[in-house]
Order: sequence, then C-alpha cells, then structure tokens
Amino acid sequence: MTPSDYEYLQKLLKDKSGLILSADKRYLLESRLLPLARKVGVAGIAELVQRMRSGSEALINDVVEAMTTNETFFFRDKTPFDHFKDSVIPELIKARAQRKSLRIWCAASSTGQEPYSLAMILKDKAAELAGWRIEIIATDLSPEVLEKSRSGLYTQFEVQRGLPIQFLVKHFKQVGTMWQLNADVRSMVQFRSFNLLQDFAPLGKFDVIFCRNVLIYFDQATKSDIFKRLMRANEPDGYLFLGAAETVVGLTDSYRVCPNRRGVYLPNSGTAASGDANRFAMSGGR
Ligand SMILES: C[S@@+](CC[C@H](N)C(=O)[O-])C[C@H]1O[C@@H](n2cnc3c(N)ncnc32)[C@H](O)[C@@H]1O
Repeated sequence: MTPSDYEYLQKLLKDKSGLILSADKRYLLESRLLPLARKVGVAGIAELVQRMRSGSEALINDVVEAMTTNETFFFRDKTPFDHFKDSVIPELIKARAQRKSLRIWCAASSTGQEPYSLAMILKDKAAELAGWRIEIIATDLSPEVLEKSRSGLYTQFEVQRGLPIQFLVKHFKQVGTMWQLNADVRSMVQFRSFNLLQDFAPLGKFDVIFCRNVLIYFDQATKSDIFKRLMRANEPDGYLFLGAAETVVGLTDSYRVCPNRRGVYLPNSGTAASGDANRFAMSGGR
C-alpha cells in the first residue's frame, strides 16, 4: 500500500465514520481489508483503493463497515446496567409520573446485546411501568450488525458472555445451535441505521442515552462535537452512559460526572449541578 493510498483511506474513514486511523495502524487496515479485497475479487489493497477512488459507493460502505469494531456483549461492564436498573429508572419513574413515557437511545448498538440488556431490565419492571410508553431506539451505521440485531439470534458463546442464566432461561429459545431472544423483548427495541456524524435532531429527545465504546475511536474535536449534540438530544434531567474507557472530563462542558455513578453523566443544559445531591438522595448505591 502506498503512502498516498493510506492517506486516502485515513481521510475517507474519518469523513465517513469518524474513525481515526493513526500512522501505526497499517497492520489493522491490512488485516481488515485483505479479506474484503479477496471477497470482491481484487488482488490487494492497492486495487481496492483504485476501485474506491473511481467512486464505488457500495465498496466504500463495505470498507467503512470492515473497519468498525463491533465488540459487544450482554450487560457489558455490569455496573452501568445496575445504575440504570437501581437508580436511573426509579428516578425517571418519579420524574415522569405525569407523562408516563420514557425514550431511550442506544447509539452505536452493534449486534444488539446492549439495547436488549436494557429491554430485559425494563421487562422485569413491567408492573411498575404498566401503562407507560417505552421506546428504545437502537442505532448503528453498519447494516450487517443491524440485521443480526433484528434477528435476535445469538451463538452459545454470545449468550455465555455477561447474560445472567435466569435471563437466558426466561427470555431465549434454542433454535438449532443458536439462541433466539423472544419476540416480546425483541419488539421493545427499534433498530435504525444512523451515523453519529449525522444531525441528531430527527431522532427527537431522550431521557437516557447509551453511547458506549464508540467515541474512543474518534478524535477530540469529533468527541466534543458529539457531546454537544448529545446534550441537545438529551432531556435536561436525563442521563448519558459512556463506556468504561470513556469520559467527558477535559473534553466538554456539555456533561458533568454523575456523583457516585460510574459511567453515568448528566447534561449541563438544565438541572444545576447543586441539585444533584437532591436528585440522588433517595436512590443510594455507588
Ligand atoms: C465497539 S461497538 C460498541 C457496542 C456497544 N455500544 C457496547 O458498548 O458494547 C462500536 C459500534 O459503533 C459503531 N459505529 C462506529 N462508528 C459509528 C458512527 N460514526 N455512527 C454510528 N455507529 C458507529 C460500529 O459499527 C460498532 O457497531
């Protein structure tokens, strides 16, 4: 691969998905793109780039998709899901008692384990949420992961990663060698194709946003811009969840750290920080 091909791919990936590919990621590019080159029947990356340069939009999308990391699993990092179940949802049940509706956005949902983990938690709260309108919107830029998500089909390995056995028994059925999430839980999540570089306004406002393990691939300017736009898409008394390796500290004034809730952040658009003590006074926990 020539330096000019590498630069072309670096720029294309940043423009199309936000992915930053540093100069030392040549091996990553090759390991992800050589199988694609073989699949489309070209000799190597140079020829692949040549085809992309001549404007093959489908191939460009395949390259973007091949370069994204889709690693995910049920109840990833556990603690944020405990906060969601034990403090955020009880807090919102109080705050939305009149409206009786909740909107949750799982941005960068990969193969669906994250939004489905949230759906299973909410299913367990069905009695408290009877009569409520619950929306879980899960988005990703990759059509392939969205298709798998909609099927709700997971391998033995995937259901063994993070999914408590009682949830497997309660919500999944064995289909051949795979496990399929039951339709009642699947239907709680709407999957949509959406790029985080796009305008968020058409999605509306959300009480809770999960945007986990995707911003790590972006540069600081892109992260700051996304935080600003996430804040506008978040209700002023809503919540943002980030991945374990991600934070807002030093990157944005749009969010602040939620006291005693690792991985949870509060928008700076509304409730003053001084109100945090009251907001969490009743929910306890760490
Ligand atoms: C590592 S997975 C994280 C999945 C899940 N949020 C979790 O924490 O387990 C990252 C996902 O982000 C998606 N992604 C990457 N860039 C994106 C973008 N610009 N817009 C939307 N999704 C993107 C990828 O397709 C991938 O499925």
